[in-house]
Amino acid sequence: MTKHKKYQTLLPQVESLVAGETDMIANMANVAAALHEAFGFWWTGFYRVDVQQLVLGPFQGPIACTRIPFGRGVCGTAWQRAETVIVPNVHDFAGHIACSSASNSEIVVPVIRDNRVIAVLDIDSTAFNTFDETDKHYLEQIVGML
Ligand code: SME
Repeated sequence: MTKHKKYQTLLPQVESLVAGETDMIANMANVAAALHEAFGFWWTGFYRVDVQQLVLGPFQGPIACTRIPFGRGVCGTAWQRAETVIVPNVHDFAGHIACSSASNSEIVVPVIRDNRVIAVLDIDSTAFNTFDETDKHYLEQIVGML
């Protein structure tokens, strides 16, 4: 199944998962699980904005760094820019925070509410060049549903 098709299948599932629930953390937990299961990513999860730093939220995968300062790493950069950051090779990204040495590519999508970044969705892959504009397109839609 193409990536496009997988996302097309996932979108209505995510929509119904989050529709009846207003608690953002519960929704983040289910969205992380749904994405992780569907694609078999290495690490799939959220960091939430906590004043000057990001703090680890619901995730699937190995243990991870708990706090990331504004502007640091891929996550802090996506927060600072308030836009999605796609990293084809994390070893080429200056300031990348290696929570796991198995990660080789990454995408970070900001969760924006009322023009403010309130969290980021971070996905790590053990393969290089995993993420592209298709992932950006669908993941931005998914975080918009939270
Ligand atoms: N690599 C991220 C840190 C979070 S872990 O990948 C789960 C970064 O550079 O921001």
